[in-house]
Amino acid sequence: MRKPKRDETEKTIEDCRTVGRICLMLVSVFVIWGLVYMPYRPGTPMPLPEHLSWMEAQRDMRRYILPENGSQALMPRNACNGSVFVVVLVCSSVPNFDARQAIRDTWAQDAAKLNNMRVFFLLGKSSNESLNNAVYNESQKFSDIIQEDFLDTYNNLTLKSVMLLKWVNQNCANAQYIMKTDDDMFVHLPNLFRLLKVKGRKWLLLGCLIRGAVPVKDWNSKWYVPEVVYPGRVYPPYLSGTGYVMSRESASVLYRTALNTAFFYLEDIFITGICASRAGLKAVNNEGFKFYKRKKQYLCV
Ligand SMILES: *[C@@H]1O[C@H](CO)[C@@H](O)[C@H](O)[C@H]1NC(C)=O
Ligand SMILES: *[C@@H]1O[C@H](CO)[C@@H](O)[C@H](O)[C@H]1NC(C)=O
Ligand SMILES: *[C@@H]1O[C@H](CO)[C@@H](O)[C@H](O)[C@H]1NC(C)=O
Ligand SMILES: *[C@@H]1O[C@H](CO)[C@@H](O)[C@H](O)[C@H]1NC(C)=O
Ligand SMILES: *[C@@H]1O[C@H](CO)[C@@H](O)[C@H](O)[C@H]1NC(C)=O
Repeated sequence: MRKPKRDETEKTIEDCRTVGRICLMLVSVFVIWGLVYMPYRPGTPMPLPEHLSWMEAQRDMRRYILPENGSQALMPRNACNGSVFVVVLVCSSVPNFDARQAIRDTWAQDAAKLNNMRVFFLLGKSSNESLNNAVYNESQKFSDIIQEDFLDTYNNLTLKSVMLLKWVNQNCANAQYIMKTDDDMFVHLPNLFRLLKVKGRKWLLLGCLIRGAVPVKDWNSKWYVPEVVYPGRVYPPYLSGTGYVMSRESASVLYRTALNTAFFYLEDIFITGICASRAGLKAVNNEGFKFYKRKKQYLCV
């Protein structure tokens, strides 16, 4: 009857060995993980290479946005007089004369057929004065150009979007909804109109929602983001910058939040992800805002 005791002891010893092995394995896993992870831990950021130093230098939004002062070089007079249901702001850049004309000749024409819809182009400044002069001529002719006084470069797209919010707050605060899009996009204005009549609400922030995107750690990538600039491991859910819509209330709170948020150069993540989550706004997905990219993780939910 008492015989199995020895077996039990052996079994216990065997159990202890197994536990020991598991412990050893766990410890090694932690050590290896620690060795790999430590150099990239937030708080011990790696120094930035010279050509990327602007990412760190240019972090104070107010210095560029000048919230107390006007910053427009060009602006249509009475852009938002009367009542405005939706103002569509197309982010364009100085040399894209043809893209702007294509939009004027196609989808923007529907604005005149719908009630209280307006379309304007938003540009920065070129370092080439003859191009700026051509934009001046274009604005005289079509009266649909807003040109802000900052250098128009890819890395300054965030500045353009915050300038957009500034312009809306200062010059188009009566618009009920604001859409941000780019000059290589097609917007079906009648559908947008119908959508907002149904889905419109006070704290709207609507577009193509992207969840679980992670900062790119490859120095050669166009989307490279160093630790010092974004220490988090995952971006907050955000709307693709190809096109999103917000209410005037959302635009106002996003503008105030953006002024007090460190500059981050990916425009859509900055506005609809970082600033929106700080402001307590929830970005919502809508099937109507579609675009395609090769990498699965960048598709909308
Ligand atoms: C705003 O404009 C005023 C008057 O032109 C000027 O005195 C002031 O320095 C400007 N403020 C900033 C921050 O540029
Ligand atoms: C703004 O108001 C003026 C004067 O009432 C009018 O002539 C002009 O067409 C209006 N502009 C727009 C964009 O509706
Ligand atoms: C400015 O742009 C014009 C028109 O594209 C071009 O012909 C000219 O060479 C440019 N000037 C400079 C200094 O880049
Ligand atoms: C702008 O328009 C003026 C007057 O029509 C013209 O003389 C000038 O050449 C134009 N400039 C550009 C850069 O198109
Ligand atoms: C962004 O614009 C500002 C103001 O014009 C300029 O000083 C800065 O060099 C630009 N930054 C980049 C990365 O182009």
